[in-house]
Amino acid sequence: MPLHAKDSIREMIDDDIYASSDLSVCLPKYTFPKVEHESRHVYQAVHDELMLDGNSRQNLATFCQTWVEPEVHKLMDECVDKNMIDKDEYPQTAEIEARCVHMLADLWNSPEAENTLGCSTTGSSEAAMLGGMAMKWRWRERMKAQGKPTDKPNMICGPVQVCWHKFAKYWDIELREIPMEQDRLIMTPEEVIKRCDENTIGVVPTLGVTFTCQYEPVKEVSDALDKFQEETGIDIPIHVDGASGGFLAPFCDPNLEWDFRLPRVKSINASGHKFGLSPLGVGWVLWRTKADLPEDLIFRVNYLGGDMPTFALNFSRPGGQIVVQYYNFLRLGHEGYRRIHQACYETAQAVAQQIAEMGPFEIIYNGLGGIPALSWSLKSGEDHPFTLYDLSDRLRIRGWQVAAYSMPAHREDLVVMRILVRHGVSRDLGEMLVNDMQTCVEYFKRNPVTKPLESAGYCH
Ligand SMILES: Cc1ncc(COP(=O)(O)O)c(C=O)c1O
Repeated sequence: MPLHAKDSIREMIDDDIYASSDLSVCLPKYTFPKVEHESRHVYQAVHDELMLDGNSRQNLATFCQTWVEPEVHKLMDECVDKNMIDKDEYPQTAEIEARCVHMLADLWNSPEAENTLGCSTTGSSEAAMLGGMAMKWRWRERMKAQGKPTDKPNMICGPVQVCWHKFAKYWDIELREIPMEQDRLIMTPEEVIKRCDENTIGVVPTLGVTFTCQYEPVKEVSDALDKFQEETGIDIPIHVDGASGGFLAPFCDPNLEWDFRLPRVKSINASGHKFGLSPLGVGWVLWRTKADLPEDLIFRVNYLGGDMPTFALNFSRPGGQIVVQYYNFLRLGHEGYRRIHQACYETAQAVAQQIAEMGPFEIIYNGLGGIPALSWSLKSGEDHPFTLYDLSDRLRIRGWQVAAYSMPAHREDLVVMRILVRHGVSRDLGEMLVNDMQTCVEYFKRNPVTKPLESAGYCH
């Protein structure tokens, strides 16, 4: 082609993505596109748009994994076409899921680790729904057997993650959530027992409370429920929300009794994609023994071939996260998980120490007795030239996402900031964050915020 003719067919020449006919104009945003676009162009456009999201590695508000090994990327890619629900078509993925359940049953000290039941889920929220449903079903069976009414179930918990509010609403259960009171930010056995009666389907302690990162005292609550049963004859089971702690305590706090070592703990949920170190989209729920999951809740379908038992709220979903969970179990083992989490605990404690030394902050949680995280508030009784919302906003300039939020019912007055120290939040990154915080504090001293962002209509 003569060079001078190039202009007339410029639109067809794909030597530059951004000068292409696809990308030199705006792509459709809210109406369904009428024509096809070149895959290379669309990929670039979508890729570029994603740059505007925060950098997940600097998102210190999330509990979820934001760094994975290259092998994990490979396995995820290899599994992109596998539907984990189709156990007849992908029997090996199903086998891997079953192995994970038994490995977790072993990790959580089930007396029947080889035979007990459990399943993968999309995360702890779905797992909580399944654990909660099983509690409701078992309670209803017990009540029916005694000829008692079954219209007023209740559940007792401390300050729980929103999934339990959803569970209570969707399944019509009265949620007896123990409110925080002054310095008591989690459940105590006394507060639990005050709320128990024969309509209590179960008690749900959290191992790693979302707001404060502390472990609730599962053993103490279990002991108190034993005593309550001796006195009243009412037998109330425990489901542990181990969203974070389920993958921490077994490795870093092996003597803490919170799992199936306690006969009253009938089921446990945990997020594989949090401290289980798998990519987003996997959780687990397990029952202490087979008998603890009512058979009535298991559905069997045969139209995909074979006889397929399912107990899940979802149906089709990808198998990659489960396969990678298995990879992690084999890759890391007990020792690997312990080393990774221990490094995170040490970083959390070091960062907490440095933040305490800055002056304006009071450490609420320093990474001891819960998950690898820290939280702090502004010292009370002092005048500060900024709020924690201002600080959170200013840290965003350097890309850090550090949540600032108020506590739930009864302690809404307490505003805190929290950092989750996960795999990939290195000591160096922690140090850089502390330096940036120090710079922000100095900035606010020179430029006090006269109008707090909250009253200026700032949305957080
Ligand atoms: C204690 C607790 N339970 C449940 C959940 C929900 O977990 P997922 O995001 O895996 O659904 C979370 C999430 O942060 C949590 O911290």
